Amino acid sequence: MNVLVVGRGGREHSLVQKFVESDQVDRIFAAPGNAGMSQMAECIDTSEQDFDGLVAFARENNVELTVVGPENPLLDGLVDAFQEADLPVFGPTKAAALIEGSKHFAKQLMQEYEIPTAGYEAFSDVEAAQAYIKEKGAPIVVKADGLAAGKGVVVAETVDEALSAAEDMLRNGQFGDASREIVVEEFLAGDEFSLMAFVNGTNVYPMIPAKDHKRAYDGDQGPNTGGMGAFAPVQELNNWSYAFAVEEILKPVAAAMVKEGRPFTGILYAGLIETSVGPKVIEFNARFGDPETQVVLPLLENDLLQVMIDVLDGKNPDLTWSEGVCAGVVVASEGYPGAYEKRRPLPEVEVAEGGFVVHAGTAWEDGKYVSSGGRVLLIGNKGEDLAQALDRTYQSLRPFENQSDFFYRRDIGRSSVSSAAPHADVE
Ligand SMILES: Nc1ncnc2c1ncn2[C@@H]1O[C@H](COP(=O)(O)OP(=O)(O)O)[C@@H](O)[C@H]1O
Ligand SMILES: [Mg+2]
Repeated sequence: MNVLVVGRGGREHSLVQKFVESDQVDRIFAAPGNAGMSQMAECIDTSEQDFDGLVAFARENNVELTVVGPENPLLDGLVDAFQEADLPVFGPTKAAALIEGSKHFAKQLMQEYEIPTAGYEAFSDVEAAQAYIKEKGAPIVVKADGLAAGKGVVVAETVDEALSAAEDMLRNGQFGDASREIVVEEFLAGDEFSLMAFVNGTNVYPMIPAKDHKRAYDGDQGPNTGGMGAFAPVQELNNWSYAFAVEEILKPVAAAMVKEGRPFTGILYAGLIETSVGPKVIEFNARFGDPETQVVLPLLENDLLQVMIDVLDGKNPDLTWSEGVCAGVVVASEGYPGAYEKRRPLPEVEVAEGGFVVHAGTAWEDGKYVSSGGRVLLIGNKGEDLAQALDRTYQSLRPFENQSDFFYRRDIGRSSVSSAAPHADVE
């Protein structure tokens, strides 16, 4: 079978790496792909937003399954375009992707179907929003309703901070259409984790939970980024919380989407926070997470193509997972998430057995890889436990250790090693 992966980041490279393992896959196309993907897929010079071009390409090249990685084409209706052309595609329709595209919609849905999440109010009027903020006090969270490239959320520690966030978004149009409306919500304290599931209508097949690290620098300091590293599964999460997240969050929300006439097919991603009374939803995404995907898929024992086909057919894909833990650390360009230089040469990376390199912002120039984005690549590895997975990963990062053009976090997973493995010191 021929498959087409739409996207150009680490998540999509990881999908391509998984499809390579499938006996059923003949040709893999990536649109537009990246330099890393071009080693194992045929990259097509098309934008993710060129729907007509993608549909025509899929038809002409007998693509039997198209998988859409990023949120923008999903929200703009790329899946709908494939469905109208009668081409098999894995991902949510525009109507279903609204669960990511509008935080207000997602909050209303959760409220109506009693899915645990932070208390909130939505506003389009700045005075009303500010009155509510003053009434509730800080800490409080202000969110742009629409997509804002990961910059649309302010976790305000003071009332003043929240007031000016509301002002920037509603009065000053900070995020254009995406901040015509805002959600103001209760601050939740606790550890965050991500739980993704394969979903088709009311059928929900959860993956293993993952933890991402969003801040740029060690100790969760510095600005928010797209994600600086991740690991899976999250062993400190107890079985009760995992079961709760599946039974009381993922399954009811999938059923709610069916009831609302927006049945969801694809990957449903729940961003969760483990509060003192159990997991609550921070947000939903309508696609694979990045970088969570890069550490979850290596532990999936199934043929990914078969999983997607089964899910689309309404069959249980019987997901099975390898023992052990997978970790991944992102190498970023110095300056990211602010301004950074491009076209800096990358050192040679050697990964140990079980290790992998996932490209995100790289290009191939004059016979070598150079950087072309903020997040450049992710290096990962598996281990019997988190400590071993991290040791192996950090070994492979050595060539980047003294590179002034790049940086990476030295503490991915560290706080979880001590809490997850109390026996480690005893033996
Ligand atoms: N209600 C909340 N309480 C505490 N922290 C929150 C809350 N909502 C969001 N956050 C923090 O802000 C981050 C970004 O919020 P999120 O809703 O996931 O938006 P996005 O990923 O679209 O930027 C979360 O990962 C979390 O760390
Ligand atoms: Mg988020």
